[in-house]
Amino acid sequence: MPDSYADLSRFYDLVMTSGYYDYDAYAHAILPCIGTRKDVLELGVGTGLVADRLLALGPGDLRLTAIDHTDSMLAQARDRLGDRARLRREDILDLDLPSAFDVAYSVGGVWYIVQDGEESWLSSHLMEEEDNERALTNLAAAIRPGGSLLLSVQGPHRRSDRPLPGGLLYTQHVEVDPAGRHLKDYFIEDQGVVVAHQRLRFRLFPREAADRLLRRCGFHLQDSEGVLWQYVRR
Ligand SMILES: C[S@@+](CC[C@H](N)C(=O)[O-])C[C@H]1O[C@@H](n2cnc3c(N)ncnc32)[C@H](O)[C@@H]1O
Repeated sequence: MPDSYADLSRFYDLVMTSGYYDYDAYAHAILPCIGTRKDVLELGVGTGLVADRLLALGPGDLRLTAIDHTDSMLAQARDRLGDRARLRREDILDLDLPSAFDVAYSVGGVWYIVQDGEESWLSSHLMEEEDNERALTNLAAAIRPGGSLLLSVQGPHRRSDRPLPGGLLYTQHVEVDPAGRHLKDYFIEDQGVVVAHQRLRFRLFPREAADRLLRRCGFHLQDSEGVLWQYVRR
């Protein structure tokens, strides 16, 4: 599904910086995992919000490459990041990068962890298990042995709304089908009129199935505390 965020992209920054994600917290958690390593890959850079914080807070010699498949998101990332990062229009399914990265991360990007109390899931923009396996295998090939995969943790998908600057209202609706797929509708309203609507589908893998899937592709869970889970690429 190319261009998955096209309809939401012009409101994306407004929604995300209104308290949806704490980008400073994610950047502060990513940096110690990178340590002195240099070659970093972001999976689903969006408009570049977390990349911007990482580059501002991290060492000056960090080499960041970032991919996304939505043109309208990447265009904003280009404006925000300029030549501080190498941006590539790429679908994770066709990822074809040399084995040149020490760390890959996804903050609400292609994959992330959903946590609800003691329960957790791997949430994926890719609906089919075989697509996830293919994309994770390609990703493993791009990460040097001993490198890391970092996935952000967020709360469960739930119906919610939030006022935005300029009198706009953000609302998200969530439906879950029996196979565990989440259908999320995002609405932006201006004075009761819907000015943007984005529908996205997510596949949620329960904790054990997620661990098995990631292990099959070469990623072993190392740390599941805090706002990021860390996998080591064996
Ligand atoms: C919620 S945004 C997160 C953006 C950014 N990481 C942030 O923190 O704001 C998810 C991004 O993942 C991208 N994405 C989803 N599926 C993808 C795929 N198959 N290949 C590449 N990018 C994808 C979308 O285009 C979107 O920009």
